[in-house]
Formats: sequence, structure tokens, C-alpha cells
Amino acid sequence: MKSIATLSAAVAVLSGAADAFWRMECHSRSGLARIDPLVEPGQIANHGHVIHGGSNFGLDTTYEGLMASECTSCRVKQDNSAYWTPSLNFIHENGTTEIVPQVGGMLAYYLLFGENIKAFPAGFQMLAGDTRLRNFSGEVPDPEKSLWGPEDKTQHALAQKALGFNCMNYAKPPEASMYRHFLPDKEYLDANCADGIRAEIFFPACWNGKDLDSKNHRDHMAYPDLVNGGVCPEGFETRLPSLFFETIWDTSVFTGMPGQFVFANGDPTGYGYHGDFITGWDVDFLQDAVNTCTNPSGNIGDCPLFDIQTEEEGSKCQFKVPEVLAADNCAGPADGLCGNVPVQMGPGYAELIQPGNEETPTAGYTPVTTMPPAVPTLSFKTATLAVTDKFGGGINVGGQSDLPEEIDTGAVVVPVPTPIVPVATQPLAPEAPVVTTPAAPVAPLPTTPPVAPPVAEQPKGPGSIIGTSTFTSAGVAYEVAIEEITVYVTVEAPAPAKRHRRHHHMHRRDREHGLLGRY
Ligand SMILES: *[C@@H]1O[C@H](CO)[C@@H](O)[C@H](O)[C@H]1NC(C)=O
Ligand SMILES: *[C@@H]1O[C@H](CO)[C@@H](O)[C@H](O)[C@H]1NC(C)=O
Repeated sequence: MKSIATLSAAVAVLSGAADAFWRMECHSRSGLARIDPLVEPGQIANHGHVIHGGSNFGLDTTYEGLMASECTSCRVKQDNSAYWTPSLNFIHENGTTEIVPQVGGMLAYYLLFGENIKAFPAGFQMLAGDTRLRNFSGEVPDPEKSLWGPEDKTQHALAQKALGFNCMNYAKPPEASMYRHFLPDKEYLDANCADGIRAEIFFPACWNGKDLDSKNHRDHMAYPDLVNGGVCPEGFETRLPSLFFETIWDTSVFTGMPGQFVFANGDPTGYGYHGDFITGWDVDFLQDAVNTCTNPSGNIGDCPLFDIQTEEEGSKCQFKVPEVLAADNCAGPADGLCGNVPVQMGPGYAELIQPGNEETPTAGYTPVTTMPPAVPTLSFKTATLAVTDKFGGGINVGGQSDLPEEIDTGAVVVPVPTPIVPVATQPLAPEAPVVTTPAAPVAPLPTTPPVAPPVAEQPKGPGSIIGTSTFTSAGVAYEVAIEEITVYVTVEAPAPAKRHRRHHHMHRRDREHGLLGRY
């Protein structure tokens, strides 16, 4: 099975700031366990996590330990970092609990937003999100970024807006990243999200310039005032790479079955979703990569510094689960969540129950079939100009309805690069954006869904500048100039023993470039 994608882009004038990034592909977990060396070092963690990255991971993981890893489950061999989040689980009506299949491991995006970005220093670690949260403060959906007031820009509000639960349905145009900040209920998922849910978390990228960690693992970092872009607050002027985790959970395998989805921390709302990071990079090496690997394609293969291993090699890299956790069964099927974590709906803070605590209740699972009132209804919304970020509702990729069956299976993934630097109707070499996923079951599918840019409109001719200076429109709070770009994408999918079928997708998007690009 083979597929060719050609992307031609006509972009008018102006190169904005190069919104360079790369997508660290961690297609396999290094493990699944009640371990959290950041929040609960040296002890069994409260709840289970899916963990990706360096093999030297355990109850007492340190930077030095990670650096001494024998391997990594991610594709860049120099990256021994540890990336983890709570797993998503399904609790059947009778209480039997099992992990939801995780599709493609995790993608950890390194987005190079801002000026003078510093590599993560040795020993740096951080947490994003708050496991206890069960409610949301703020309007639903988010007001346009240009209209955000002080209440939208508190660190608490920004952290809540940094979560996303993207309803995956490749038959529809994609939703924008971080559009919905809660986990939709089962009924909604069954009805709308045929390809599962993509859990997203954006990490703060503004550092106080001195602390490698802080008591709550958050206070040494801050969000810029538009979550993924904007201005760093006073005292946090040092820019680090912006980290963004994407994890796809195939909730669709439970379609029609009574029960409830719950994150491993007992959170059915998603408001308590969180992500953890301990750097496992050599500082000078990462600084070189940050300085030189500025290709806006996002492909790790475009960074000549990186030694890339195959998905299969990465999948062999697993950490050793400590003896004390040998009896744990975080994948299930089991009676309740691992660690006997109770489901806590909120809306107040969830209680943290430490393992070993005398007062630890038994699972005490009470089947809950409806979501708490704190979770609003928010219908499926196609990413539009107003909400499409640079990465087009699903970082840099999206779903497409009219793809031929041959490539609609997820077997071929064609990222659609976002043209940022002016390109004059320049066809990309066919080898560039095509990723063929091997059929071997050992290799999970990449998190990227099949093809297609988010906004499908009629072609309207070549791009041009359509505005300058203080444009304040949907989703844009600051910028220098606005240009119209036209992107033509042709996907050609040769079917065996059939004549080639051609599909032309033409798209137009308005794009803003500013000092920090769109953000
Ligand atoms: C609970 O229900 C699920 C789904 O029907 C089933 O697979 C599982 O075996 C049941 N568990 C028990 C303990 O009966
Ligand atoms: C949200 O949770 C916080 C922390 O427990 C609490 O103070 C607040 O009252 C909650 N809000 C609502 C609407 O319940």
C-alpha cells in the first residue's frame, strides 16, 4: 500500500516568526504503573500512569538516572526524558475496570515559541494540571483570545484552558486543539467520537530562570497569557520549549456498552487531567536542537542531529516495574481502578488518598451514568478560522471525509505541513510527508489521524496580505500582518490492480504572523 501526497503552497509575502516545532514520537509506553517520581518520589503513587521515554524510570527517578537509561521508548535516541499522564479507563456497569486502548502511544510536541529559547536545564522537571480539580472556572466555550480579560489570564484559568479533549472522528473535519476542556460523557462519545478521544495538555513555557522544580512542581513555571502563546509574566521571562502532550484513547471499542470512562486518578470529568515531565536530554545537545532544528514540518527526521530509531525498537524499551508493584494490575480487567482509587465527581476538590493510608477506602465504586452538572454540554465544532490554531485542530493534521478507502484505514498517514515561510507553488518531494505504518501489530499507529487540513473551502486564488497591524479578530490577540494563504493538497492513492484514484483537496486559510506567530 502506497500513497503519495503532494503539497503545493502559495503564500503571499511576509515570513512570520518561524513557528518551528518537532513532534517527539513515543509510539510505545515504557510502562503502565502507579509510579510518579515527581509528585510522590520513593513511594507507590496514588494512581496509575502511562509512561513514555527513558528506561531508567522508577519510584526514585532522577535526571541523572534517566540520562543513564539504556534505551528510550521514544524515537529519538538522545531523548531519555520521561513523559507521563494518567491512563483512561472504562468502568463497566458491574464495576469491572479496564484500560482503554491507547492508540499510538504519546506525541510530545516541542514547540519553539518565543525568542531566545533555552534548553531544559539539567534536573529540570515540571507538572501541568491538577489531579484534584473537578470543576472549571471560566466561560464555556472559551471567549475569543482577543477578548480574554484578567480573569481568563490568571495562572489557574490558563492551566484549565491548557487541557483539551478532542473528539476524534476522521469522517469529519477536526476540532481545534484545546477547544473542549473536559471529557465528554459516554453518550456523547458514543454518538460523536467514532475514533476516540485525544487527551491534550499544554505545559507552561515561561520559567523563573532559576528553580529546577518547586514544591508543587508548578510554581517555577508560568503560562504566557494566551496559554500557548502571548507574553510571559514578570519574573518568568525565560522561555523554554513549549511542551504539548497528545494521547489518543480509543473509546469507541466500548460503544454501546453501559459504563463510564474515568481517568486513573478517579476523574470522570477531565478537569483533573495532568501531565508530568522530567527532562532526560543532554543540555548542550538539546540547545543545539532548539537552535538548529527549526524546520516547521515538525518531523523529527528533518533534524539532522537526531538519531532516530524505529517504532519497533522503541517498543522494546520498557522500564522494570518495582517489586512492590508486582501485584498491581493497572491494565485490568480488574475490580476498580488500580490503587483502589475512588471515582470522585466533584465539583469540589477530589480528596487525595495515599496508598497505605489507614483511611484508604476500598474502591467503593458507585456506578455513575450521568455526568455531574459541572460538565457542560459542548457540541462538536469544526475548527474554523476562529478557533483553528496553527496546527489546525489536531496539531498539524486533521481528518478528511472523502479519502479513498485505501488510505482511510489509518494505514497511511500524511501530515499536512503548515506553510509558514513563503513558498512559491513549490511541490514537495513525495518522500517528505508520507509515513507508512507497518502492518505489524507490534507497531502501534501514530497518533496522527489520516490526512487533511482542517478548513475545506473553495479555492480562492493566490494569497495576499489582507490586513496589517492591530487586527483583533477571533483567536488572535496580537499580530503584525495577516496574510491569506492558499494550500492545495493532492492525495494520490494507488489501489492495487485498480486505476489510480485522485483526490484534490483545496483549502484556504487566513493566517496571522506576529512576533510570536499566531500565538
Ligand atoms: C462485568 O461486565 C463485563 C462486560 O460485560 C464482563 O466482561 C465482565 O466479565 C463482568 N465482570 C464480572 C466480575 O462479572
Ligand atoms: C471548584 O473547586 C474549588 C476547589 O475545591 C472550589 O473552591 C470551588 O468552589 C469549586 N467550584 C464550584 C463551582 O463548585
